[in-house]
Amino acid sequence: MDALRRLRAAFDAAQFRESGHDLVDQLADYLDATLSGRMPTVLPACEPDDQLAATPMFGEEPGSMVKEVAEDLLRRGFHLHHPRTMGHQDGLPIPAAALAGFLTSLMNNDPSVYETGPAVVPIEVRVLRWMSDEIGLPQGAGGVITNGGSLGNLTALLAARQARAGFDLWSRGQSSGEDLCLLVSEQAHYCVSRAVRIMGWGDEGIVKVPVDANKRLEVAALPAALEEAKARGRRPIVVVGSACTTATGSYDPLDAIADFAEAHGLWFHVDAAHGGSVVLSPEYRDRAAGLERADSIVWDCHKMMMMPALLTAVLFRDGRSSYETFRQEATYLFEERPDEEWYNPGNRTVECTRPGSAVLLYMALRVHGVGVFRDYVTRCFDVARMLAAKVEAAEDFELHMQPDANIVCFRFRREGAAGDGLHEHARRVILESGRYYLTSVQLDGKNWLRCSLQNPFTDEPEIEGLLETIRTEIRAAEETGAR
Ligand SMILES: Cc1ncc(COP(=O)(O)O)c(C=O)c1O
Repeated sequence: MDALRRLRAAFDAAQFRESGHDLVDQLADYLDATLSGRMPTVLPACEPDDQLAATPMFGEEPGSMVKEVAEDLLRRGFHLHHPRTMGHQDGLPIPAAALAGFLTSLMNNDPSVYETGPAVVPIEVRVLRWMSDEIGLPQGAGGVITNGGSLGNLTALLAARQARAGFDLWSRGQSSGEDLCLLVSEQAHYCVSRAVRIMGWGDEGIVKVPVDANKRLEVAALPAALEEAKARGRRPIVVVGSACTTATGSYDPLDAIADFAEAHGLWFHVDAAHGGSVVLSPEYRDRAAGLERADSIVWDCHKMMMMPALLTAVLFRDGRSSYETFRQEATYLFEERPDEEWYNPGNRTVECTRPGSAVLLYMALRVHGVGVFRDYVTRCFDVARMLAAKVEAAEDFELHMQPDANIVCFRFRREGAAGDGLHEHARRVILESGRYYLTSVQLDGKNWLRCSLQNPFTDEPEIEGLLETIRTEIRAAEETGAR
């Protein structure tokens, strides 16, 4: 086959139509089998080496059909739509978003500049405006989409640094001014600490603020944190709130932190990667009271908004802040205009080329309306409360705290290292069986089982089944001495 014929065959529209129909049929069957819980396992019981060995290589010439590769992937993957999946914070993608992903992958319109993303850039703007309004940010708010919360937090903190450093750090470097730092709770996601290191502030650039028994930042400890910063010879310019934390889903007292930030001239950043979506729920939105006072906010749509990875909104109370962050020459891309170019988001992010991910959320919003998102968040938070209530009611389980969000940490009542060993043993056995998926976390020197209830179709039978399975595995391990 000559080169052009081979290329034409790869782009053949009729072939694409046929493969596409096959794939949609397969995905519809997959959705049905997972959502209904008919699929026997949520996770394949397979060691990494065996998975690698089972992953075929490819040759010079055409080999498999799309449906063969898809079937293999669907069979050997992790099933987020299964109601017995209760582990990480990855959300189950809503089908309309998956279809939009298919669409944007083929179009490949890059929203870094208007010329390459003429339809996608306005969609980003619409989506970001809607999110700002849901939080209650003022009309001047604006932002950008980034690939993930880690990059989103870095993007916001770079803007904060540019706004509050008081010297031209971008052009002249850190050594041209004072040493800086930020204040953040000791329970914040590690990407905040990583962003501090990336910005070149080092270990001393992060002052950890203690938390209370419910893992919420202790506001009364903030003045001492300021003193500590000064004792280190650092000037604090940012205070970070978590809404909510990763381990326990705790919402920091944002209003009180905003008061403190205002009183001390600090930039107030909120990592709402997981819990920002709470503003969509009329029942639970008070958890994030004060979020609307933040200078910058990171909100992941791939956690609690039924979007696939990655889709993060970085929102600024004053949308102009982010134009200032990355001042550099790239005249072949950006129009030379002194004013703000809302239509060229590449001016405002670390990234250059980006996927048109905002289309996925926009598609779901246009097709289903906002209401389904409100229902989703409320339902996931309700399911978490259901699990917490059952843990509390069971004499042999202990609840870490009443959940603020949709994350629940609990233990089987066994003391000391033996208890921790039993927990990990039970979790491993359950994961190997593929029946349920849950995680674990160290809190207050103890091992806790942790569920992030992301699936609105998880219900009483799955929750009772999980607790009963843990109970059975721990008792069996105690009897046989296995762990
Ligand atoms: C509170 C919080 N912030 C940030 C992140 C990082 O987000 P991403 O995984 O999208 O980079 C996470 C991820 O779990 C998180 O829970």
